[in-house]
Parts: sequence; structure tokens; C-alpha cells
Amino acid sequence: MTTEEVVELTSKYTYGTWRFQKNWKPMHLVDAEGCHFTDASGKKYLDLSSQLMCVSLGHKNKAVIEAIVEQARSLPYAAPGFATDVRAELSKLLLEVLPKGLEKFYFSTSGTEANEAAIKIARMYTGKYKIISRYNSYHGSTAAGIAATGDPRRWAVEPAGKIDGVIFAPECNCYRCPIKHSYPGCNIACVEYIEHMIKNESNVAAVILEPVVGTNGILIPPDEYLPRLRQICDENNVLIIADEVMSGWGRTGKWFAVNHWNISPDILTTAKGITTAYVPLGLTATTMNSSHQ
Ligand SMILES: Cc1ncc(COP(=O)(O)O)c(C=O)c1O
Repeated sequence: MTTEEVVELTSKYTYGTWRFQKNWKPMHLVDAEGCHFTDASGKKYLDLSSQLMCVSLGHKNKAVIEAIVEQARSLPYAAPGFATDVRAELSKLLLEVLPKGLEKFYFSTSGTEANEAAIKIARMYTGKYKIISRYNSYHGSTAAGIAATGDPRRWAVEPAGKIDGVIFAPECNCYRCPIKHSYPGCNIACVEYIEHMIKNESNVAAVILEPVVGTNGILIPPDEYLPRLRQICDENNVLIIADEVMSGWGRTGKWFAVNHWNISPDILTTAKGITTAYVPLGLTATTMNSSHQ
């Protein structure tokens, strides 16, 4: 097929995500190796965002490809009710790198599903149903994921395509503070307001947040933010769900972004870099018996 045909068929018969469908003319990608990808004209690009912030070990990583081939040869599929060597081995390896206390794993096939499961688990475990998220956030595209998403991608599917019970807190954005009147002095009013919400809403099961915000601006919280949030949640019997779909697997310089502030969430979700995105895998990691309850 010519490049024109590939682009025409792709844009005519498939949806482009997170964009207007009209006039979509995607680049025809033909190859990728290490940190570069190549278009159909032979032009090579430095893949600075590793595609969707997910090809963490680079393109065509031989060790990863060989592991996938080996697994496909020995046992390509097993229903979830079975124990397998890889499932056991992966669990042991996760215990080595995840923040302390996260010891029980639910596997799915995307970051969206990992968050969907986290919200269900938080609701079932606490018996409460409200979820606090923040405006500058993205948590996925399914009904729960998009409901918990604070950014404008949620607007188009309201109200039918989302779940009830999510309320939004001000984001932690020191460049464009949503609570401008807290200046000067700041006093991390954005996190204190979450306590105000918890106390006045009642029935709050969990706060979901990206410890370092990804697609909404790579926002790093001040050092006091996450420890203070942990304290607020502990005092009010509310769980913390850390969405590390994007910030996990070394993207912030540590295994997980929460490691920078030494806090342990009750639930951590991740995907993308967990397999360097060669195969779909989502993880919802929880404590065995939440010490925070
Ligand atoms: C922070 C965050 N959460 C959830 C998701 C959804 O993950 P997936 O695209 O694997 O469903 C993303 C994807 O970009 C993300 O960045």
C-alpha cells in the first residue's frame, strides 16, 4: 500500500483518540529502534515522549521481545483461575519495587482498567462511595476513568458515559494556583481544602491522584503536599489511590513518584512502562489489610 492509502484507510475507518475526527491525517510510521522512530519518507525522529510515555525501554528491545516470544511458545494464555510460573514470578518482582505495604495484585490490560478496579475496590472495602479527584487530571477513558478525569476530555461524555459519585478538588499547581487568594504564604491551601471536602461531603471512600501530574502539565507538588494528604486521609479513614500509570517505572527518577515523598498509598495503579508497552498490562496494587483503616 502507498502511504496515501495507509493514511486514508486509517483515518477513514478508525477513530483517532482525544482529537476531532475531521481532517485527521496521521503520520505513517514504518519503523522504530532504540529512542528513534521513522516515517514512510525515511525521516528519523527522536522519540522524546517514548510514544505515549510508555516505551520506557526503547523500541525493539531484544530482551523484552525474546521474553514475549518465549512466553508465547510455552504458555500463550491461561485463564485467571490458574497459577502460572510467570504470575508467581511477577508477583515476587513487584514486591521488590513497589512502595512498602502494597502486596496484593490485580492484573488487567490497561491503566484505565487499573483505575476502574481501584475505584471499585475502594468502594467495596470502605463501604463508602464518593471519590475525590482533582481538576488537572487524567485517569482513563472508561466510565469510571473518565468520571475521575478532571480535564475537559470528560465534558463530552457527560452525563451518560460516566459513573456517579466523583467530586473534584482544586489541583495542586504552583504555576497557576487555583486558589490564588492563598498567596502570599500558600500554606498548601489546595490540600487543606481536600480535608474540608471530606468533612463536609461525608461518604468519601478515596482520593485519587497522579502524584506527579502527567498529561495535564507535569505538575510536581511541593514537598509538604503528599505527606499532608496522607495525614488527612488517615485521620478521616479515606484511602489514597496513587495513579502511577504514567509516573511509574522510573519516569520521575525513582521506581514510583510517591517514593520522592516517602508515602505509601493504599492502592497504586500502573500500566504503560510495566511492559514497556509491548503487551497490554495494567496493575492495581493494594495493601493486604489496609493499615490505614
Ligand atoms: C495518569 C494516567 N492514568 C490513566 C491512564 C489510562 O491508561 P491507558 O491508556 O493504559 O488506559 C493514562 C494514560 O495516558 C494516564 O496518563
